[in-house]
Amino acid sequence: MKTLLTRLPAWKALRAHHKKMRLLHLRDLFVADPDRGRRFAFEAAGLYFDYSKHRITVETFKHLFALARECGLRKKINDMFSGRKINITENRPALHVALRAPEGQRILAFGRDVVPEVHRVLRKMADFSDRIRCGKWKGHTGKRIRNIVNIGIGGSDLGPVMAYEALRYYSERNMNFRFVSNVDAADFAEATIDLDQEETLFIVSSKTFTTHETMMNAKTARQWILRKLKNREAVARHFVAVSTNQPGVAAFGIDPANMFELWDWVGGRYSMDSAIGLSTMVAIGHENFYRLLSGFHAMDEHFRTAPFRRNMPVIMGLLTVWYNNFFGFRTTAVLPYSRHLRLFPSYLQQLTMESNGKYVTIDGDRVNYETGPVLWGEPGTNGQHSFYQLIHQGTKIIPCDFIGFCRSLHSSVTHHNTLMANLFAQSEALASGKTFKEVIAEGTPGWLAPHRVFEGNRPSTTILADRLTPETLGKLVALYEHSVFTQGVIWHINCFDQWGVELGKALAKRIGNELENASSPRLTHDSSTNELIRRYRRLR
Ligand code: F6P
Repeated sequence: MKTLLTRLPAWKALRAHHKKMRLLHLRDLFVADPDRGRRFAFEAAGLYFDYSKHRITVETFKHLFALARECGLRKKINDMFSGRKINITENRPALHVALRAPEGQRILAFGRDVVPEVHRVLRKMADFSDRIRCGKWKGHTGKRIRNIVNIGIGGSDLGPVMAYEALRYYSERNMNFRFVSNVDAADFAEATIDLDQEETLFIVSSKTFTTHETMMNAKTARQWILRKLKNREAVARHFVAVSTNQPGVAAFGIDPANMFELWDWVGGRYSMDSAIGLSTMVAIGHENFYRLLSGFHAMDEHFRTAPFRRNMPVIMGLLTVWYNNFFGFRTTAVLPYSRHLRLFPSYLQQLTMESNGKYVTIDGDRVNYETGPVLWGEPGTNGQHSFYQLIHQGTKIIPCDFIGFCRSLHSSVTHHNTLMANLFAQSEALASGKTFKEVIAEGTPGWLAPHRVFEGNRPSTTILADRLTPETLGKLVALYEHSVFTQGVIWHINCFDQWGVELGKALAKRIGNELENASSPRLTHDSSTNELIRRYRRLR
């Protein structure tokens, strides 16, 4: 079916409805309905979701839900959960939900139940991580492993490093966890500068085991190990791999018995709960990793079964469409009030922008509407002292997601009260603003008043959880995964491929050869690129 999104009745109704909505102010909406803060909020899977500070009414959601129905969202959700090949350009299912399915649940990929395989790999991971954590797995010289270095990039890095930071409170504090992703030599050098080879184990994480950056860093790691241990057999004790590519792993010199498998039906950016999470499991222990998975699963079940009007990922995804396509707001900020979640926005950048940064529909047509917005963010309160100025008084409107916890992991209640007071204050200030009259009433001179006025009417969601636990992290990640999927269904794009990364990779290979081999034939790039290459060759 060709996409006719902008001709759907619900799309047209939303366009008309937007004309009214853009004139309404959140301050007035709250005054008109004193119960708004409860009406547009609910709890599911242990997360409290307040979307009352959005520029919406009951009618807005009537049209948005109609749009979801007209786009076949319910069927598409079922297709994903039942293992249909929804990633059509790569001819495979997108079955990350199977990674957290409990034993006994049946999920078919290519006609085969994948849940038993998932649990077989989980048990192998648990056995390995237990042996590392209790010191049974020894390095080549018999020393205990104290340092784990994950080498990977994109989905093979961002999930592990984000989860380690997020769950550091639960981590084994007598071990070091480092992450090497960038092909810039500084990354490897800085990650290993104070480590002893005899106590270090590398997890080479790469779904394909061909990614240039990861392979180069893995080779550097192998040299680094051999420089001190001087015996090729040491590689087996100091390297394990996570991959789908067993021949590639074996060719590198890693014993295939020490390879942890993942599958084609897991996308890189949807893989932090697969064996790609091995470093996470070593850090927090297998029981906590299972808790993380149960959090993911709880949100999966919520997404799969809840009616749209009480479905958090559906509502979140539809709000993104509402702002992106009708108001023309082009970015979203994710603002966790938690230091532990400081890498969550970077993680979400890949999840959202690699999934939905596409101008071609599933049918191969150029879209005639906007797709995925730019996502960015930093933890509060730090962001308040940097870019919040623009969020409050800039000319761009940036819908924000505030994420906070009712209980801190750390003992100071005063710190936590202050942190949360800031979160609540920001969303209130953004929504209500401060009028000229209010500013003058405070005694501000007229000439200064315009600078101190806040227009308000700036939308935000607030997500509150009890504490940052492994379960909570799983729920939050799954919430965003399914929100991204909801958006992709509306925009009729494939959330699960990433052809947009290929051209740069191919050109980098060609230019890499030209840099290595300075006497290579005439440069045939555009004149800018030719000149940059020549200049680099001269000055390096
Ligand atoms: O280049 C993009 C990408 O393919 C991501 O989608 C993926 O997460 C990353 O590279 C790493 O891929 P791999 O795990 O195969 O090394």
